[in-house]
Amino acid sequence: MGSRGIVTIDGPAGAGKSTVARLLAQSLGYLYLDSGALYRAVAWQARQLGLDLERDSTLEEFLADFAPELTADSRGFHLVIDGVEVSQGLRSPEATRESSRLATRPLVRRWVKDRLRHLGANGGVVAEGRDQGTVVFPGAAHKFYLSAALATRAERRRREWQGEGDAPSLVDMMADIAARDLRDETRVEAPLRVPEDACVIDTTDLSIEAVLKQCLAEIGVL
Ligand code: DC
Repeated sequence: MGSRGIVTIDGPAGAGKSTVARLLAQSLGYLYLDSGALYRAVAWQARQLGLDLERDSTLEEFLADFAPELTADSRGFHLVIDGVEVSQGLRSPEATRESSRLATRPLVRRWVKDRLRHLGANGGVVAEGRDQGTVVFPGAAHKFYLSAALATRAERRRREWQGEGDAPSLVDMMADIAARDLRDETRVEAPLRVPEDACVIDTTDLSIEAVLKQCLAEIGVL
């Protein structure tokens, strides 16, 4: 790739987006923009403050004041809220569920989009999420869409739970992911879609290394 462009990686939960995005950012020397972490941060802070954000006016007021310290490198965001480093807490089941709900709200999507565009203004980023190639960076130089079978995605998520208490059953995890897929695909604002000009990769039977290699070849650095 000649100049430091923008690479987007979209797809549903468990398709391998974050791992591939991080490795790709490291290979290219780019920043890794983990858009999901910003939705999770909104959910996390709302919970900390015990806020009920059902009304748009309350949500708008909350977002106007919400300014986490945000730095990005090739491994992801470093997020500090009210002096507390929150990256780990963002992965909790509550933040996961609540971020999926809040991600249907136009005000939240605009808040996240503004921050991502600011961070990507000079290029040199791998932006990962559900709408990066379609809405946030439609002019990106390279777009990828990763998918995988539901059972495979649920199993990958279950493995991430190991060592963190009771992992849900595979059936429960599949139901949870299927519900999130449905919410992500059917919301009115920026639904999860395959960008028209994306390279689609089904990762069901592929190793991370194989996916990374395919992305680098597509970008033209292999
Ligand atoms: O990728 P993730 O699991 O960290 O994302 C958390 C939630 O945020 C997910 O349920 C969907 C939402 N999200 C989104 O709607 N758009 C994005 N670009 C990224 C995440």
